[in-house]
Amino acid sequence: MRTKLTVGNWKMNGGLADNAARLGGLAGGWKAPAGREIAVCAPFPYLAQVQSALAGSAVAWGAQDVSAHASGAYTGEVSAGMLAEFGCRYAIVGHSERRQLHGERDGTVAAKAKAALSAGLTPIVCVGETLAERDAGATESVVIRQLAAVADALGGDLGRIVLAYEPVWAIGTGRTASPAEAQAVHATLRARLAGAGARDVAVLYGGSVKAANAAALYAMPDVDGGLIGGASLDAKEFLAIALA
Ligand code: 13P
Repeated sequence: MRTKLTVGNWKMNGGLADNAARLGGLAGGWKAPAGREIAVCAPFPYLAQVQSALAGSAVAWGAQDVSAHASGAYTGEVSAGMLAEFGCRYAIVGHSERRQLHGERDGTVAAKAKAALSAGLTPIVCVGETLAERDAGATESVVIRQLAAVADALGGDLGRIVLAYEPVWAIGTGRTASPAEAQAVHATLRARLAGAGARDVAVLYGGSVKAANAAALYAMPDVDGGLIGGASLDAKEFLAIALA
């Protein structure tokens, strides 16, 4: 069985005091059992705090976005090289909140994934359909289109990403995909990855995952872990998900 990877996406939450308590709970509470890995993706300003709290622990960390550019006149952006200096292993790219609120398109997401890889980071590439797209029967075509843009840009490096399936209708809504619904999409994504020689890419599920529903999702053969929003803000709950 593949390693189960559980990644917390704190989104725009936290503060120095909150983070210290949460990071202490993770560093002290995570015993790194075989076959399980965890990571947290924090807001940019806190990466130095995360690095000093988690260095030497078995908890990895990363950022929630990354620039497609290496350096230069890109006000407000943060490069992959900068993230690497703060010990980041991961950078989330193409989260639906970036796609929806910041107009990120497939080509930009692919360029960000490439930039992350070139600095030695692992991009966690998010794909997922809206409720309207699901209702129109377009789930498969949407996620395959989103993945194909990244596959085309990365070529033989596709095997170095982590993929996250996050149905937009399940994010922060309390409505999660059923294990069977998740598995169906994950199997489609796995087949596309395999066709590109990247069968072993971890495919995470995200969208209202909690300790109470994680075990059923993680039991699916093509679900390799989770990308956790709200529930990752509670260290105990997050660790319970990681052990599901
Ligand atoms: P929730 O777990 O809060 O639904 O968020 C999921 C998500 O968007 C993780 O990236």
